[in-house]
Amino acid sequence: MRLDVVTIFPEYLEPLNVSLVGKARARGRLDVNVHDLRSWTYDRHNTVDDTPYGGGPGMVMKTEPWGDALDSALADGYEVGAHSPALIVPTPSGRPFTQELAVELSERPWLVFTPARYEGIDRRVMDEYATRMPVYEVSIGDYVLAGGEAAVLVITEAVARLLPGVLGNAESHRDDSFAPGAMANLLEGPVYTKPPEWRGHGIPDVLLSGHHGKIARWRRDEAMRRTTANRPDLIERCDPATLDKKDREMLSILGWSPDPEGHSSGRFWRRSEGVEQ
Ligand code: ADE
Repeated sequence: MRLDVVTIFPEYLEPLNVSLVGKARARGRLDVNVHDLRSWTYDRHNTVDDTPYGGGPGMVMKTEPWGDALDSALADGYEVGAHSPALIVPTPSGRPFTQELAVELSERPWLVFTPARYEGIDRRVMDEYATRMPVYEVSIGDYVLAGGEAAVLVITEAVARLLPGVLGNAESHRDDSFAPGAMANLLEGPVYTKPPEWRGHGIPDVLLSGHHGKIARWRRDEAMRRTTANRPDLIERCDPATLDKKDREMLSILGWSPDPEGHSSGRFWRRSEGVEQ
């Protein structure tokens, strides 16, 4: 996979040289190219922003440097025969970045990121490139960062670990929280490793039992416990067909019931406050 990042802070992307993404680069699974947006400014002050039409606070990033920088990055790839770039525009106004979107992006051969500063990029830049390629405007959460570079690091790491040959264990992401499949939409429960006793804290007996069925059940129950506590919205949205009898029993113990108060979807709802977790 090829990644291009156009930014006014190339040094902010240094973490792409370390850890998992760095290893993926070293192994040739990722080809990362970071470009300095200011290389495509032609005035004495290397200006990349200007005041917004219509007034208001803050500054808007100008069309010309972005257009020239993107044309240059894209032309380079087309020359060497790479195809199907997608533009990834980090913005708090974008669609939420989810594991599902990470999987979709991991299947593309080439991602071009445009992390912005100030109030964002002049809309015409996205409209122009949308005529040539898919444009994903993506938010990594409901908070506002000073710029999109941290979002690029987040998205890149989530995508890179899905590429074949990048994670040590090919199975590792099957059980991820939010991974598609049987455990879909439940958070992962707690994990333990040696020593068996630490500062008076032991390991749940079942994990030492060697009984795979019981261990799987315990993990599922703990996933339910953690999900009801931290992400009740995931339980409310959960497809009842993905819950077995034991799941339903556990949800009932945790204070959840199917269809109280006249709902008829089979989905689970929290019965009342104050039930022990
Ligand atoms: N830029 C500023 N805030 C952001 C967010 N929450 N997600 C993606 N890009 C951003």
